[in-house]
Amino acid sequence: MPNPNPIGIFDSGVGGISVMREIRRLLPAEDLLYFADSAHCPYGIKTPEEICSRIFKIAQFMVNQNAKLIVSACNTASIAGLELLRRAFELPIVGMEPAIKPAAAITRNGKVGVMATGVTISGQKFLSLLSRFANGVEVIKVACPGLVEQVEQGFLDDPETEELLKTYLAPLIAEGVDTVVLGCTHYPFLRRQVESIMGPSVKVIDTGYAVAKRVAQVLREEGLQNSSTGEGKVIFFTSGNPGKVSQVITKLWNQTPVEINNVSI
Ligand code: DGL
Repeated sequence: MPNPNPIGIFDSGVGGISVMREIRRLLPAEDLLYFADSAHCPYGIKTPEEICSRIFKIAQFMVNQNAKLIVSACNTASIAGLELLRRAFELPIVGMEPAIKPAAAITRNGKVGVMATGVTISGQKFLSLLSRFANGVEVIKVACPGLVEQVEQGFLDDPETEELLKTYLAPLIAEGVDTVVLGCTHYPFLRRQVESIMGPSVKVIDTGYAVAKRVAQVLREEGLQNSSTGEGKVIFFTSGNPGKVSQVITKLWNQTPVEINNVSI
């Protein structure tokens, strides 16, 4: 039975839009709900308990909006609380993790850099990801505080963002990595800037498309696809200031002014 209900996608802020645009490309008929938890962003400096408490409320909100599947479009939230959400809710939940496996497959010199939040790269889950997928490749991880805040303000090309990127990428350049994993969904909006600092011989990868493919697969397997042939609706929600968030989402989404609903949860 086809299912016309929306897919719910959330992130600490606007970063998950880098995942949503891949879902939109692959599944244009699906209605999408996007929740930016802007009042509580960034997640990367919070405790796992604080993050779990936020994402539980967001998932509950999405269930109340009749979501048929939820995407945790945030590496930090997925690392901290994906299992909790899967235990608490019955609908399918797709999460994400830094692209260690694809990076280990494409590196030519066996050196991979991972940019992510402190929460993502500091826990047991990340070590387990490395032990399963690094496959003997050397992984140099770098936490990048401040970058999420720059993207949240839409400051993609300003000098402070460039300075932060140069600082965080310096150890990866020094180690001679030939592959960089964007392990936070905000960072694909800085891909061009990262590529320009790293130079043309370094590959920069993220997981947005892989997550979209996984969403398509789950919808197919569970018989949850929308059978409509028209273009699905996209509805935005934020816990933050809708005026400010709208300006940035308009810039990152499709340039037409975006209306955002404020939700206090
Ligand atoms: N987009 C989130 C991620 O993928 C950002 C985390 C944050 O808010 O610090 O990790």
